[in-house]
Amino acid sequence: MSSEKKLKKASYKCDKCCDTGWVLIPQENRQPLAVSCECREIEKVKNEWKHSGINVEMTKHTFANFKVWNRASQRAKDTSAAYCTDFDEIRNSRRNSILLCGQVGSGKTHLSVAIGLNLLKQKIKVVYMPYRDVITKIKQNILDQEYYVKTISKYKLCEVLLIDDLFKGKINESDINIVFEIINYRYLNFLPIIVSSEFSIERLLNFDEAVGSRIYEMSKDYVVEIEKDIHNNYRLK
Ligand SMILES: Nc1ncnc2c1ncn2[C@@H]1O[C@H](COP(=O)(O)OP(=O)(O)OP(=O)(O)O)[C@@H](O)[C@H]1O
Ligand SMILES: [Mg+2]
Ligand SMILES: [Zn+2]
Repeated sequence: MSSEKKLKKASYKCDKCCDTGWVLIPQENRQPLAVSCECREIEKVKNEWKHSGINVEMTKHTFANFKVWNRASQRAKDTSAAYCTDFDEIRNSRRNSILLCGQVGSGKTHLSVAIGLNLLKQKIKVVYMPYRDVITKIKQNILDQEYYVKTISKYKLCEVLLIDDLFKGKINESDINIVFEIINYRYLNFLPIIVSSEFSIERLLNFDEAVGSRIYEMSKDYVVEIEKDIHNNYRLK
């Protein structure tokens, strides 16, 4: 390859669409069909993360920044890293999800975001759902049917859903109904979830068995339960 050609090739961020955002699909006896390139779709998803308060390019919640400082953090990091490596293989299986639960301040959000970022790098569209903010907003707009359907659909249908801090705060029947609608849809359609929650597995199951048992079954191969012990709280380290 001539050096000029090499330079040209290297200057595109996306080789698929040459940074136009569009890919042409040849059609028989017709004009080619222009479809939105996956790089554009990923950019859209990253922008949504920004709106939810996480700047994908700047966040400190990465694997590189996660320190192994005790046995619990070692296990949590290893399981999270294994999930990222295995994802392609397991994504369509029953156990295609990961649950990080237990002790407050133990790095569950940090690691779930690190997993999300890793999958985004693999061009997988991960949608970030900060549980409390999202549920509060849905409930504030509960009479607006269009808003409800649009919002819930985003979380039901996305490629991978990251639910951060599930069941944080006061929870009532309508919170559980909203979560069930999302989780059940994803369960039935084998769509992966990444969940962080301060609940223990036992509490998750006792609290709402329908939601808890589905999350547990989907995450069975990648469950990290961090023991409730003040020594596992990184904030107090
Ligand atoms: N092993 C670690 N290495 C580096 N930073 C860490 C580690 N564990 C936690 N932190 C940092 O400590 C803070 C608390 O972690 P994080 O919010 O992820 O905890 P959490 O388990 O989600 O807590 P909560 O139950 O309150 O939601 C964050 O700033 C996070 O980056
Ligand atoms: Mg958290
Ligand atoms: Zn592209």
